[in-house]
Parts: sequence; structure tokens; C-alpha cells
Amino acid sequence: MASNSKHDLYDAAKADRLGFWAAQANQLSWHKPFTKTLDWSNPPFAKWFEDGQINASYNCLDRHVLEGRGDKTAILFEGEPGDTKTYSYSQLLAETKKAANALLDLGVRSGDRVAIYMPMIPETVIAILAVARIGAVHSVVFGGFSADSLRSRINDAQAKLVITADGGFRKGKAHALKEAVDQALLDNSCPSIEHVLVVQRTKTDVAMSAKDVWWHDALAKASPEHEAEGFDSEHPLFILYTSGTTGKPKGILHTTGGYLTGASYSHKVVFDLQRDTDIYWCTADVGWITGHSYVVYGPLANGATQVIYEGTPDSPNFERWWEIIAKYKVSIFYTAPTAIRTFMKIGRAVVDGHDLTSLRVLGSVGEPINPEAWHWYHDVVGGSRCEIVDTWWQTETGSIMISPIPHAFKTKSGSAQRPIPGITVGIVDENGVPVKKTADGSEAGYLTIDEPWPSMLRGVWGDPDRYVETYWSRFKGKYFAGDGARFDGDGDIWLLGRIDDVIKVSGHRLSTAEIESALVEHHWVAEAAVVGAKDEITEQAVVAFVILRQDELGDAPNEEEIGKVLRSWVTEKIGAIARPRQIMVVSELPKTRSGKIMRRLLKDVAEGRPVGDTTTLADSSVMTAINDKLHDGAND
Ligand code: PRX
Repeated sequence: MASNSKHDLYDAAKADRLGFWAAQANQLSWHKPFTKTLDWSNPPFAKWFEDGQINASYNCLDRHVLEGRGDKTAILFEGEPGDTKTYSYSQLLAETKKAANALLDLGVRSGDRVAIYMPMIPETVIAILAVARIGAVHSVVFGGFSADSLRSRINDAQAKLVITADGGFRKGKAHALKEAVDQALLDNSCPSIEHVLVVQRTKTDVAMSAKDVWWHDALAKASPEHEAEGFDSEHPLFILYTSGTTGKPKGILHTTGGYLTGASYSHKVVFDLQRDTDIYWCTADVGWITGHSYVVYGPLANGATQVIYEGTPDSPNFERWWEIIAKYKVSIFYTAPTAIRTFMKIGRAVVDGHDLTSLRVLGSVGEPINPEAWHWYHDVVGGSRCEIVDTWWQTETGSIMISPIPHAFKTKSGSAQRPIPGITVGIVDENGVPVKKTADGSEAGYLTIDEPWPSMLRGVWGDPDRYVETYWSRFKGKYFAGDGARFDGDGDIWLLGRIDDVIKVSGHRLSTAEIESALVEHHWVAEAAVVGAKDEITEQAVVAFVILRQDELGDAPNEEEIGKVLRSWVTEKIGAIARPRQIMVVSELPKTRSGKIMRRLLKDVAEGRPVGDTTTLADSSVMTAINDKLHDGAND
């Protein structure tokens, strides 16, 4: 069904793209107004709203209080054990001011990096907004990452402080976090860290050393007064590490004015946010970009009321999410296809028992949503009544790029459809030539973003060349997203998944190279090749092929034991999300004559398909040998 106002937005953006973005930016409150919208004189280095000054924390908090919305609920927190807490915008501001002063008391200054390694609790949002408030740069590290991963991220960003908690509640248990921080910092292995600020959540015993400070003590001592100053629009706001095609995660850098414009505008438009009546809930952890843009910055800049839930969907049972939606009368719900597929498998009974009639917009993010999952989401969760927005975007894009807009046009199960107003995308072939559109659509090609946009990444922390090489070199003048896509006959876009060695497990982004380097760090492993194999629930699952070092095996355990040990090893090195579903011990890996591992063939094996063309292999008998081992089954 067409609604004129929604179409006006597309028309306005088309008629004057930069004017459109300036108007969106002007929805925010600027300490100093900008006069220049975009400087693209030195591509791919963009400057948006360059001469303006802004404070992200002020926009998420003070502005609402000053405009009379201080009593409006900002956060409806539901802890996993069932404890609850509500924060109004005034309360959130008061806590953030104290936290900002506590950070200043600990010596943190504008431009310093602060690592945040936290569970999903309100203090995490407060910590983020406090860091932003004083112009420091946050680097949130997902609480499920291991101590090793945390250490490498702290060191790459040279963080001065870590904010953590004793732990958080997950799956009915207290999951320790401070312990992992201690391990990361052991033997002065993160020399840049001066202090660790610790929120008390689970009340488990933690060892506090001289540099550790309790959050509640620091805030109790801190002044409650803090006036937010404006920072340049291009002042760094945060770094968020994500996996690329190499072994080392890259720190994606976002800056203030453009990012906040993209996050708040897209949140309002894509979810059709009605500030005074909607109850919004995004299930993402703040450790991912979705949590940054659609738990912290987007909803708070827009003055929304949102639910934050600490735990997992199955705690104490699979009724939990649906109970929460019914309890708080959630009207906008945003989650990942993996979760939907999990519930599909469990069956609709867990959903049907709850009153979900408050829902009106349902969002999907992180991976392609297959038509079956889309229909289930639409019919079972949405009672065939809600709008579904399948949102395509990336850590690098900062905010949603491709998505339907509720009520603007008819949605399709499985297609993210169109770039949102203000965004220009294309699909090109190998040579950068736009794919030809036919009556049936087009061939598959590479997705590009063709013009700079406000919330685009500004670089890779400490590695300007990598920014240019990874994103802007493949197709001249265009941002290369790393995804395959095609148009259908209506000109709608269908995303086809990553075309590089990045894999998606439950919507989490992992690099095959990163898992391979973790595996070869184990003394048993001589060589490793990792592929993402199709998985019914998680979209892809990690399957690893390893060649063992016979000399290191000693009292060789059997293959099943080896698999177990190596799977735990990956958990320890990276985190449980990277744990392989299966480890296959092989004696050779399929390689081309130039020594490149042919993952395509390993993927065939991992997905149980007949192995494809092996003619380019240096030794084609390798695949026969691997295939002969196929019947070993998974390690689980
Ligand atoms: O492959 C695309 C997939 O997720 C990748 C980006 O991952 P990340 O930076 O972790 O951000 C995830 C949350 C924004 C993309 O390159 N992806 C994300 N959303 C979709 C998607 N694939 C298909 N459909 C989507 N809606």
C-alpha cells in the first residue's frame, strides 16, 4: 500500500541528495551548526558536516530532558534472573554525567580509547554514552569474546581504560567477565591500560588489584554536574572490530556527526518509529554494530522507549522472549533470522501462548532471511498483521542501507528490496560494469554503494591503506561491500551472501583466516583450512580441515578427542561463536599449482555434495582421499 509521505522521502532524496542529508542531520541538536554538508574532494576520505560541532551523548540524553521529555522511559531493563529496572531519560542522564566525571577522574581525556567488555545491562549504555560525552573513543568488545581476543583489541587501539563487570547472567548462570579481563592483562600484556572500572552485576567474588576501581565507588565520588561540550563532526566516536578476510580483525572507525545522522534517521524511517507510543526492542548485543546503532545511538537519539534484555532466548525456557514482548507491549521488534529459525524448529506453541498483538513492525538483520523464515516471522510472530523490514547493512556502513520502509510498497519474502532514501547502490560484474537488467531481473553480481553516505566508516584504525584497498580499490569510485546480489524483475535487490572468506554464523561475522590462524597456533596442527558450511539454523557453521603434526601428537589421542581439544582451543583463542561444528583430520589439503587452498572443494565436502571441478588441483587424488573419510561424521 502506498503512502504519499513515504514516497515523498524517496523523491526528496533523489531530487537533492545532499540537501536531504543536511535536513536529516539538522534533526539533531548541534552545538555549532554546520554549513558544509560533504567534502568528497579527496575520495575515499569523506568529511560530513565538517564545520559543525556536536555531542552524541547530549543528543541521546540532555536534549530530551531540555525538551520536556525527561520523565519519558528510556530503558525497560529485564535481567535474566527476572530482576527489572526502569530508567527515565532524566535518570539515564544523571547516571551518565556521573560516569563521565568518573572517567575524567580516572584520567581519560578526549581522543583516548576506552575498551568496554560488558554484559547487556543499562550500565553498558551509560558507559558508552559517558565515553562519548567526554569525546573519548569507545571500543566495545563483545562479552563472548575470549581474553585473547580482548587483549589484541585493547592493544591495537592502545586503550587506556577497560570498563567491565564482575559478570553477567547467561543461560541461568553468572558468566565471568572480570576474570577474562584479568587474564587479558596478565603480566603487563596490555601496557596502555591504566585502570579497570568494574560494574557489580552478578556479585561473584572478583580479585581487585590496585588499578581496579568499582564503578559504584567511582560514581558515588563523582560530581553529578557535567556539561557536554561540542566536538567536531568528524571527531572519532568509536572503533568496532570486525572480521575481514585476513587473520587480524580490523578496527572500523566511525565519527560523530555523520554516524549519528545515519543511525537516528534510519531508525526513525525503517521502523516507522512513533516516539510517544512505540515500545521498541532490538535483541542484539551492544558488542555488535546492531547494538551500537539500534540499541544505543539510534533509539536514544530519537527519544524512544526500549526494552533491554540481558540474557539468552532460552532462559529459563523458550517462552522468555514472547513473555517479554507481551509484558512490555513491544510494538517494534528487531532480531536475526537465526533466532527465527531456532523458534521454527521448536514449534509455534512457545509463541502462540502469548499475546503479541502489540507488535506492528518486525525487523530482520545480519544474514539473508530465507522465505520460510520470513513467512513464519510474518504469520506466527506477526499474526499476519505486521510489516517486515529485512535490513541489509554492515559494521562498515554504520546504519541500514537497504530495507523496505513500512507501508511504502509491498514487501517480498526474502528480499531486502531497495536502498533507503539517501543511499545509492549498484550491482556490478567482475569488471565493474553494472549488471544488465532484463525482464527477469539480472545476473548475480557484486553489491556496491555508489555514493558516500554520512554513517560510512572513516577508516580502519591505524591502517589507512587497508581502508582504501579493502573497500575502494576493487571498483573505481565505489564502495565494495563484499556481498553478492541480484535484481529481480521489479528492480528489487536480493542479497546472496558474502563472496569473500568472511562467514556468518548466527549472524555473527567471522573470518576463515582468523580461525585458521587460531588452529595452527596449536602445536598439533601443521595446517588448517576453514569453510562456512550451510547450516539449517545458524545459516553457516564452521567446519575445519586440519593436517596434524605427527611428531607432536605423542600418545596420539583418537580423532574424536583431537576434534574436541581443537574445538575448545578455538573457543579459548577467539570465543565460543567461532567454535567449529566439525573438525576433519586430513593428510593433505586441496591446493592449486600456485599453492592456494581450494576452499570451494572443501565446502562441497563439508556440505555433503559431490566434489566439483578438480582440474586445477596440483594433485587431484587429494580430494579422493578426503572424500573417502567423509563418513566419519561430526564431532558432536
Ligand atoms: O553479508 C552481509 C550480512 O552481514 C554482513 C555484515 O556483517 P556485520 O558487519 O557483522 O553486520 C551485521 C549487522 C548489520 C553483510 O556483508 N548481512 C547483514 N544483513 C543482511 C545480510 N545479508 C543478507 N540480508 C541482510 N538483511
